[in-house]
Amino acid sequence: MEQTLAIVKPDAVARRLTGQILAAIEERGLRIAAMKMIHLSRTQAEGFYAVHRGRPFFDSLTAFMSSGPAVALVLEGEGAIARWRELMGATDPAKAAAGTLRRRFATDIEKNAVHGSDAPETAAFEIAYLFNRLEIQGG
Ligand code: CMP
Repeated sequence: MEQTLAIVKPDAVARRLTGQILAAIEERGLRIAAMKMIHLSRTQAEGFYAVHRGRPFFDSLTAFMSSGPAVALVLEGEGAIARWRELMGATDPAKAAAGTLRRRFATDIEKNAVHGSDAPETAAFEIAYLFNRLEIQGG
């Protein structure tokens, strides 16, 4: 069964949107295999987003992602990576389809409420970055 890494980002946690986002995940039929609240340090955020190092938004993104608590999850299901990305909507909320989480909840392209892995290799890296094996529950 495919797994993906999801994050309810600091903007969404601060705005008390976690419950609505978790409800949408479960309504979509994705199983929550692991979940915890995290508060990344700047260095940890830089490591998580290492593929974006050198991009113009890297400093601002890592400052934002380390600015407050977030909720990290491992989601599981058939096609979980694509299904979670579909539910999130486009990175830029202005381009996200109606009904998607980013369209509903994102403030802008950076404070965009949720994160999801974009491919199987990224999912494996991101899950291992934030969870150890004992924290991930089998169905
Ligand atoms: P995420 O899916 O977590 O992956 C990388 C993040 O960088 C993205 O969501 C946004 O939060 C942020 N991001 C991507 N593109 C831009 C951009 N052009 N300007 C600002 N932030 C961006």
